[in-house]
Amino acid sequence: MTDTLDRTTRDYSVVGPEAQSAAEVGLVDAEWFRPYVDPGRMRELTERTNRRAIADAVLWLALLAGVGVAAAVVFPSYWSIPLFVVYGALFGAADARWHEFGHGTACSNERVNDAMYQLASLMLWRGPTLWRWSHFRHHSDTIIVGRDPEIQLARPPSLLRLAQNYSGLRNQPVMFWRIIRHAFGKIDPVALELVPVNERGKVVWEARFSVVVHAAVIGLAVATQSWLPILLVGAPTIYGAWLVLFFGTTQHLGLQEDVLDHRANSRTVYMNPVFRFLYLNMNYHVEHHIFPTVPYYRLPALHAEIKHALPEPSPNCLHAYREIIGELKRQRNDPNHELETRLIPDMRAAPPEAGSIGFIRPDGSFDLGPVEQIAIGSITRVDVRDRTFAVARTDDGTVCVVDGTCTHGQVHLSGGTVVDGPDGPQIECPKHNGRFDLATGAPCRKPVKEPIAVHAADTAGGHIIIQPPADRPTN
Ligand code: FES
Repeated sequence: MTDTLDRTTRDYSVVGPEAQSAAEVGLVDAEWFRPYVDPGRMRELTERTNRRAIADAVLWLALLAGVGVAAAVVFPSYWSIPLFVVYGALFGAADARWHEFGHGTACSNERVNDAMYQLASLMLWRGPTLWRWSHFRHHSDTIIVGRDPEIQLARPPSLLRLAQNYSGLRNQPVMFWRIIRHAFGKIDPVALELVPVNERGKVVWEARFSVVVHAAVIGLAVATQSWLPILLVGAPTIYGAWLVLFFGTTQHLGLQEDVLDHRANSRTVYMNPVFRFLYLNMNYHVEHHIFPTVPYYRLPALHAEIKHALPEPSPNCLHAYREIIGELKRQRNDPNHELETRLIPDMRAAPPEAGSIGFIRPDGSFDLGPVEQIAIGSITRVDVRDRTFAVARTDDGTVCVVDGTCTHGQVHLSGGTVVDGPDGPQIECPKHNGRFDLATGAPCRKPVKEPIAVHAADTAGGHIIIQPPADRPTN
């Protein structure tokens, strides 16, 4: 398909004609390649710990504050310049915190996830609600032209534009101008396309909050007759943008568009421990896209588990950049050119959450199989005729049965994970980390909005028995 497209005339906007074209050829909300991982191992890999994520967050904030105070103390001497350079880089590292805590996988504590996400969004001039929906779309339709709002460069790529982006002077002022417009209630068409109607008010109020914070910083600078407040808050979003770009460029640039395989459009790069701390292991980017429920600190283990199914990672950043720049130069002359050096192992995708088959009993109830076949903390798919169920077993052994397919997209929930929520166990969708309460089916985390049907399970006889769903015939 990609060979026949004329990229010189393509419109990369998510509100342009390419959105319709992508839908027509089956590239929207499609099924993506996933290698097989043993369900028990997957349970281990999706486990979250508050301790690790909070320790990393505290260390980052302490470094940021420490370097910021040091720079302020020696300001305006020349000694402050290198300190502001380091401060800007640490400020730019907010991008990785924005990403990890935004996915809600860093901590098991939702409040901590959300607090860090809000802080990082404010620092990076990204409206939290708008960018959350933007990132959901990026995960649904990764590098699908006309659908993914986070494609870094259109083809044919401009190396000059890439270089300008590193300065922060091109994109960042545009982002803040967008916030100002949103603060005045002028929501742009892209935001209207991405954000559901009932959340657009939040976009406006979040933008207003951001404007007020930055106006206060400017007011402080005027009152103290000093640039220092602006150099500490606001300006670092521009002069620290290079770090966001330095890491972010390795994620997808130079790779394929319009393919349903993250191995072909995402890049894993081996990085040193300092980079991995700043970037929170997002260098394992193929792994993250295939299994977004895995928290950042378990991505190296996930990589070890599935690397046989992935293209060879770039051994370091230099190698990745050579590959990217070389490919961008080729695509500049031939926008249809594709990188030929990344060999993707030829293997079949894991069958979509293969499970077991239940049956209909003479009294019409559904037998979903023995309780013992569901391991504690796991979710299994069970199909009965044309119905599919996700059967979960919580830590205390309780069996919970919900409809098998997420109400947000056509994704089977048995590929997800059981997590502790404030009001009891929840099921987390493997696609966008949306959540449902396992007892009530109520949506607990975006992007899910519709509840999922819950089926009361009778396990007294050792088998999981549910009554036939009311909306379907039983035979
Ligand atoms: S498909 Fe998006 S949260 Fe389930």
